[in-house]
Amino acid sequence: MAAAAIAAAASQKDMGWYKTGSVKKKPALTDPVQLYSLCEVVSSEGSGPEAVLTVKVVDPYYDNPVDYLPQGGGVKKGETLTVTRENFHAANPPEQDMCMDLGELDNMHEPGLLHCMGMRYCGGSKTESQVTSYYCTFIGPICVATNPFAPQKAWKNSFNRDDYVHSKGPVMQNKKLQPHPWAIGDMSYNELLTEGNNQAILICGESGAGKTECCKFVLDFLVQKKESLVENLTDKLLATNDPLEAFGNAKTVNNDNSSRFAKCMQIALDREGRVCGAEIQTSLLEKARSCAFFVQERNFHIFYMLPYYRHVKCQPDPGEKQQTDTSDALDMLGEKAHKYLMEADKYNNVKQGDVIVDTEGVRYRERFQAGDIDWYKRVISSFRVSLGYTKKDTDEMISLLVGCLHLGQLEFKDDDKSEILAESEDDVAIIVRFHHLLMPSILPR
Ligand SMILES: Nc1ncnc2c1ncn2[C@@H]1O[C@H](COP(=O)(O)OP(=O)(O)OP(=O)(O)O)[C@@H](O)[C@H]1O
Ligand SMILES: [Mg+2]
Repeated sequence: MAAAAIAAAASQKDMGWYKTGSVKKKPALTDPVQLYSLCEVVSSEGSGPEAVLTVKVVDPYYDNPVDYLPQGGGVKKGETLTVTRENFHAANPPEQDMCMDLGELDNMHEPGLLHCMGMRYCGGSKTESQVTSYYCTFIGPICVATNPFAPQKAWKNSFNRDDYVHSKGPVMQNKKLQPHPWAIGDMSYNELLTEGNNQAILICGESGAGKTECCKFVLDFLVQKKESLVENLTDKLLATNDPLEAFGNAKTVNNDNSSRFAKCMQIALDREGRVCGAEIQTSLLEKARSCAFFVQERNFHIFYMLPYYRHVKCQPDPGEKQQTDTSDALDMLGEKAHKYLMEADKYNNVKQGDVIVDTEGVRYRERFQAGDIDWYKRVISSFRVSLGYTKKDTDEMISLLVGCLHLGQLEFKDDDKSEILAESEDDVAIIVRFHHLLMPSILPR
């Protein structure tokens, strides 16, 4: 984050920001980010916007060559530049460096906003030892969240959800509570109960910005406000996350857990403010991904969990001749899926990616994430325990998924992509397997 690398504006005379470059973040999918250097005015000639200023660079824009590819000419500390007043943005006083609401800044311009969010992000200091980072900042009723990408910095410990849930009076007006998506949940909750108007919370940002995480924060806040009278409703609501993300999220070049669908969640509260119902609508699922994706990406998570789970759970233990106990795998996968699932690396729809993530040290597992197995268990348990699906339901669903994996093995004629290579015995076997998997319950006889 560019702004985070810039030191606090000192309390000097005439300080300001000057655009000295732009960067493209890797991978270069996003628009270039403008970078500003903090400068001190040494002398000026003329007046008004055309006045010519001689400025000295106090803090150059970027000092992190790992994350950013510089595009414009960089400058060095102490360098002297000649700029016009209209391109020089007055710096805010240093006491506003950690301002909780950008709307209160003396000077509202891009470098000023970036600087404030950057200072909050790095806890008011450039030194690594800072652990109290505030990654959210208000702009009036809007909360801007800067993706931390740094779990080791103890983000979660900086905030205590209960302080927000039990805040006396609106969170936004409580200066002891830092900006957080919970504050937006609180604002909507209060408005709903006092005004009786439906509320909408819009969460937007580029891929990897943190929308899904923010959505979980808000949901978590709303269900914690008052215990629901509907049995297990809260658990059910929270339990939707694991299956939704397993079936609809995938690793992309921007985000290891990118949502490949849009989601609208409607939550109903009764007059006492208790959650009494919810509906989740999904749309725009990126179906094409199930067949093809970039080599640095992954298919939907579920397509990895399944064969990986089957393979790991049914491997003989090292040194033992017999198979390990497969009853767990039979229960979790269902008999048919257990029987027909091949090793993950054999599936075209899985092996085309070559992502190295969280490896467990075994070569072919490079495409898998260490958490896939546990995640798979959570998915099945969410379906069965929290969402009320029967074992038969989940078995059929899994069979259908395995059927899709098998269909991905079909080979098509080069000249006519609609025709399967008839001579290939394998393809016949695939169709037969597919049929077995889906009969009798899913496919009509
Ligand atoms: N508040 C946060 N605390 C900890 N980690 C976070 C936070 N926000 C984002 N992250 C990290 O960044 C990753 C990307 O965030 P997230 O999946 O929410 O992005 P997104 O905006 O939903 O992206 P996409 O549009 O691709 O779905 C998360 O998997 C998580 O590792
Ligand atoms: Mg998302």
